[in-house]
Amino acid sequence: MRKVLIANWKMYYGPVKAGAWVRAFRRERLPKDIDISIAVPFVSLAAARASLGRATIPALAAQDVFWEKEGAFTGEVSPSMLLEFGVSVCIVGHSERRLLVGETDEMVAKKAEALQKAGITPVICVGETEAQRKKGQAAKVVRAQVEAAIKDVKPDGKAAAIIAYEPIWAIGTGKPCRPVDAKEMHDVIRDVIAKVWGARYRDDIRVIYGGSVNERNVTEYTTTTGIDGALVGSASLDPRTFALVCRAAVPA
Ligand code: PGA
Repeated sequence: MRKVLIANWKMYYGPVKAGAWVRAFRRERLPKDIDISIAVPFVSLAAARASLGRATIPALAAQDVFWEKEGAFTGEVSPSMLLEFGVSVCIVGHSERRLLVGETDEMVAKKAEALQKAGITPVICVGETEAQRKKGQAAKVVRAQVEAAIKDVKPDGKAAAIIAYEPIWAIGTGKPCRPVDAKEMHDVIRDVIAKVWGARYRDDIRVIYGGSVNERNVTEYTTTTGIDGALVGSASLDPRTFALVCRAAVPA
C-alpha cells in the first residue's frame, strides 16, 4: 500500500504565507512513491491552489468540512465548495475540534460520509487522552470512536477513508507515542475495520499515526508494518523541514 503523509498547518498561514510556503515546497526534491497532502486553512485554499497550478504534488487538503450540500449554515463550508479548489483529501474529527468546539462522533461520521459522497478522501482522526491511557482505556475509547465514524463510510473506491491514530497526549507535546505502542493501537483500529467492513479490508485501509512526528522520527513509523504514514503538525510549518520529513519517510 502506498504510504501517505499529510501536513496539518492548523490555524497558521493566511493566503500570503500559504502561497509562499507552496512555492518553496515545490522547489524541494520529493519522493515519488508516497502520497503527500497539505491541509491548509479554508481561507488559504485559493492561494495554495494558485501556487500549485496544475501540480498534483502535494495534493490539496482541507482541515474540516460541513456535511450539508448548501443552505442556511452560517460559517460552514461544503464538500462541493472544497472540490472547486481541487481539494482531494480532508481531515475530520481532529482532537482539537473535538475538544475546542465540541465536535461529536456523530458529526465526524456525517462529515466523513459527505466527503466520500463528493469523492474526497476523509482522514478520520481518533485518539485517547493521557488520563484515558493511564486508566487502561485507550483501546476502548479508540474502538468506539472508529466504530461511530465509519458506520456509513465505504471502504472502497478512490475516496476510501484513511484513519489517523493521534493520541492527544502526543500532539504538539514533543512526546511521540512509541511506534510499538502506535502499532498496537493500529491493530485495534484494524480489528474495528474488519468487524464493520469485513475481514478483507483489515489490511487494506490506510491507518496513519500523528503526534510529534518530525524528520528525525518519521522513518520509525513508516517502516513499521501496519503504520501507513503520518499526519504532521509542527514539523510541516516550514516547507524545508516538511520536505525532509517526506524524504525520510521513504528511506532509499
Ligand atoms: P504535531 O500535530 O505534529 O504538532 O504533534 C499533529 C496533529 O495534530 O495532527
